[in-house]
Amino acid sequence: MSDSPTLVTAQHFQYLMERTRGDDPSLKELKQAAKAAGIPSIWVNPAQASFMQILLKLSGAMEVVDVGTLAGYSAITMARALPKGGRVCTLELVKKHADFARAWIEKSDVADKIELFEGNAREILPTFETNSADACFLDADKSGYEFYLKECLRIVGKGGLFMVDNAFAFGELFADKPTDPETPAVRRFNEIMAKEHRIHSVIVPLGDGCWVGIKE
Ligand SMILES: C[S@@+](CC[C@H](N)C(=O)[O-])C[C@H]1O[C@@H](n2cnc3c(N)ncnc32)[C@H](O)[C@@H]1O
Repeated sequence: MSDSPTLVTAQHFQYLMERTRGDDPSLKELKQAAKAAGIPSIWVNPAQASFMQILLKLSGAMEVVDVGTLAGYSAITMARALPKGGRVCTLELVKKHADFARAWIEKSDVADKIELFEGNAREILPTFETNSADACFLDADKSGYEFYLKECLRIVGKGGLFMVDNAFAFGELFADKPTDPETPAVRRFNEIMAKEHRIHSVIVPLGDGCWVGIKE
C-alpha cells in the first residue's frame, strides 16, 4: 500500500469494463432504440451502473431520487438493485426523453419500482418530502447541481447515499479552453461538494468521475 495512487489509464478502464457485469439484452435493446430515436448516448456506462447497484444494495436503500432520466437506463439499473417495495423517482425535463423512457420503463422488469416525474427538477424536487429518500443520483444539467444538492440534502435522510455524475466534466476538467459550456459549472460544483461537511464523499474515477458520499 502507498499514498501514491496507480495512474489509471484508458487501458485500465477497458480492462475493468471487460471484467464487469455488462448490459443484458433488454438494456442493449433500449440503447439501440434510443440511438435510433435520436436520443444522445450520454447514459452512465455499465461499470458505473454496476458500481451504483452495489452501493445501493449495500446501503439497503428503498427510495431513490434519480435527477435526469434520459432514456431510463440509470432508473432501470438502479431499480434492479432495490429490494421488493423499493422505488426510484426519476425526473426528466425533455418530453421526448420522458416519453421514450416511460415506454421502456413500462415494458421493463422493474416497471412497478419506477415513477417518472416529467418536468423541471428545479420545480419537482421542492415538492418531495423531507427525509423521504435513502439515496440520490444527480445527472441532469450541471448548472442545477448546486440546487439539486441542496434539495437532496433535505430529501435524503441521515446515512443516505449521494451519487453525482460527471465530476471530470466530460474529460475537460483540466482543459485550458473547455468546449463544453457546462464545464465551469462542474468545476464550481466540485468545490462545493468538497467543502460540504454534511457529506463524507470521494470522487470515484469510473466513467466521467462519480461523486459518492454518505450524509452524516
Ligand atoms: C446525462 S442525461 C441522464 C442520463 C441518465 N441518468 C442515465 O445514466 O441513464 C441528463 C438528462 O437530464 C435531463 N435534464 C436536463 N435538465 C433538467 C432539469 N432541469 N430537470 C430535469 N431533467 C433535466 C436532460 O434532458 C437529460 O435527459
